Amino acid sequence: SQYTTEIEAFEPKTAEDLERFRIRFLGTKGIIKDLFDEFKSVSAEEKRVLGKVLNQFKQSAEAKFNAFKDDFTEQTNATNKEDLTLPGEGFQIGARHPLSLVRKQIVEIFKRLGFVLAEGPEIEDDWHNFSALNFPEEHPARDMQDTFFVQKPTGTESDEDTKQEAFALRTHTSSVQVRLMEARKPPFRALMPGRVYRNEAISARAHCFFHQVEGLYVDEKVSFADLKQTLYYFVQEMYGEGTKVRFRPSYFPFTEPSAEMDISCTICKGAGCPMCKQSGWVEILGCGMIDPNVLENVGIDSKKYTGFAFGMGIERITNLKYQIKDLRLFSENDVRFLKQFETEV
Ligand code: PHE
Repeated sequence: SQYTTEIEAFEPKTAEDLERFRIRFLGTKGIIKDLFDEFKSVSAEEKRVLGKVLNQFKQSAEAKFNAFKDDFTEQTNATNKEDLTLPGEGFQIGARHPLSLVRKQIVEIFKRLGFVLAEGPEIEDDWHNFSALNFPEEHPARDMQDTFFVQKPTGTESDEDTKQEAFALRTHTSSVQVRLMEARKPPFRALMPGRVYRNEAISARAHCFFHQVEGLYVDEKVSFADLKQTLYYFVQEMYGEGTKVRFRPSYFPFTEPSAEMDISCTICKGAGCPMCKQSGWVEILGCGMIDPNVLENVGIDSKKYTGFAFGMGIERITNLKYQIKDLRLFSENDVRFLKQFETEV
């Protein structure tokens, strides 16, 4: 009965008070457990009376505990709950990669001239990457030094088959020109962006992979003047009106005549800087009139059709646009670099 009064009077102020109460009465070493242990050794007659009392006692202790338990658990939860009135934490939004930004800009400019998009595989066979593009058998670009060859799993084919099909990671997007011209009939006016691979030592100026955009225009009576005007338009749109261009004669197996195009350095504005090696000019692409041999290789009548092609490195275009001096930044995923392009769309 002394305990009964204690239980009735009990009014916990904290969760600890309640816990102390639970241990004292309801715990495995608590008072109620002791009483029940004692209860085992009394006579059957006493049991009938005592049992009832004990059960009531236990129930009242449990009821008391349960009544407050909810109060305190709720209160504890409430303190842990987020305070909805606090200002939000804010979250990080990703930024477009500078190469994606510039690829998009290039595509948009050529779209206005009627160029459509095309794509091809990054693992390419000898025909599409070299042979159809008029590369002579012994051309140095086919050399192991430049090209990553892909080994076919051995044992699956005869030696004869393996020799016939040499696979490589494409070294340029010109392979996509071949695929496009093989698959469809002229006229063509297409832009072909993609990743290319070359076996080069990685430095600030070279990487084992980079990105190109290939352009192709084939129709009746396409001339070198069309090529020049198309590229001139691109440069004005990309780097602003007044940017100068110049063409230098060059050589590619798949174009004749061939040229490389320079633009006036966008960083020093022609005054001379490390980017243009003090010359005021920076090379941005290779181009030329498609060699008739290439057209014949893909089954196009070279008497009826002519065309031009060009290929530019997106990294180079981006470097000039955003004054980036180290190619490795593009593939290192350093957020301090990438965050700088957050505001660009
Ligand atoms: N494929 C050449 C390169 O990677 C560029 C090029 C494309 C040149 C189309 C002429 C015509 O260097």
